[in-house]
Parts: sequence; C-alpha cells; structure tokens
Amino acid sequence: MSQSSLSPTFAVRRLSASDAPGFRDLRLEALRSHPESFGASWEEETAQPLAWFTDRLDRSTVFGGGPAGASTLSGIVGFYTMDSPKLRHKGVLWGMYVRPQARGTGLAPMLVTQVLAHARHIVEEVRLTVVATNTAAVRLYKRAGFTPYGLEPRALKVGHDYHDEVLMAWSRL
Ligand SMILES: CC(C)(COP(=O)(O)OP(=O)(O)OC[C@H]1O[C@@H](n2cnc3c(N)ncnc32)[C@H](O)[C@@H]1OP(=O)(O)O)[C@@H](O)C(=O)NCCC(=O)NCCS
Repeated sequence: MSQSSLSPTFAVRRLSASDAPGFRDLRLEALRSHPESFGASWEEETAQPLAWFTDRLDRSTVFGGGPAGASTLSGIVGFYTMDSPKLRHKGVLWGMYVRPQARGTGLAPMLVTQVLAHARHIVEEVRLTVVATNTAAVRLYKRAGFTPYGLEPRALKVGHDYHDEVLMAWSRL
C-alpha cells in the first residue's frame, strides 16, 4: 500500500505540557529500544520525574503524531533553536522516533515536514545528526531535503561500541 493512501489516517500536532505522560512513554521507548540512535540514554531519562518532561515540552518544540482523532502517540520529533545572535539562524531537529507498527505508513515524513514547516519561519537552516548505519533515517531525511555535510567518527559510544554520525543540513536559502 502506498504511503499517501495511509498518511491521512494520521494527524500531527504540536505537543503541550498536558501531553507529558504520552511524550515520556514514547521517548523512553525510543531510548530503550534504539540506544545507538540517540545521544541521550534511557538510564538518564527514566530517572527523571514527569515534571522534567513537562518542562521539556514547555521549553522546546515537540511534534507528535498518531491515529487521527485519537490522543495516542505513534511518533515524535523535536526542534530547538539557540538564543545566541551568531547561532540563531540555525535550528536542530532531534529525537525522531516512530513506533515499529507505524513505520512505513507516512507518519515519519509527516513529522519531518511539520518540523520544516515550523522552522522555515524561524531559521535559515536545520541541522541534525544521524548514526551512519541508520539507513532508514538517512533516507527519510534525504527525501525531506536534508543533505550530508560531514561525518563525525566515533560520535557515540554505546557500551564498548562506537558509532559514526552523519551531519545533515536543510537550508531554505
Ligand atoms: C527512522 C524512522 C523514524 C523512520 O521511520 P519509517 O516509518 O521507517 O520511515 P519511512 O517509511 O519514511 O522510510 C524511510 C526510508 O527508509 C527505508 N527503510 C525503512 N526501513 C528500512 C530498513 N530497515 N533498512 C533500510 N531502509 C529502510 C524506506 O524504504 C524509506 O526509503 P525511501 O525514502 O527510499 O522510500 C524509524 O525507523 C525509527 O523511529 N527508528 C528508530 C529511531 C531512530 O532511528 N530515529 C532516528 C534518529 S536520527
């Protein structure tokens, strides 16, 4: 089945403080099931109280998507900018995660598109990092218009294993 025939069954929205319990569940699931895909770790974040996740939703821009008409979340993605005058032309896409049962449905591209629609009014460029062997994520970002501009060797160390990261950027210029 094509993605376009399925994507209308999902809705993406900006999450607010009241979404903190669902956001925490999905975020911890992401960190626990894919430790090599994120700079943060499950061990750090599972120890945090709900208020920490609420604060994150207040301070950052996080979009979530799930079946249209339901409050359940099947995917999340975050975006932040920096205040410094010399850095505020750039934003960072972070924390992209889609539950296994919602992969290949079009939800992942909807989330990235939502970040870019939001970001293009605020910044000139959006940056992200992705583990080089994460083919699905690299392809997702390339399809959305991100291009690779570098490689950071041994960017992450998970246990005894190192993971290189591809640095990618999207520009509206
Ligand atoms: C990355 C992620 C969000 C992608 O979600 P998705 O629903 O699979 O995304 P899409 O269906 O749009 O697929 C993206 C591309 O990867 C391809 N793909 C999907 N699964 C794949 C796999 N296991 N191996 C290789 N390619 C794969 C798809 O065919 C598609 O390629 P195309 O654009 O050429 O058609 C999802 O896999 C995920 O949450 N992974 C765990 C967390 C993670 O890695 N986050 C990214 C952190 S940077």
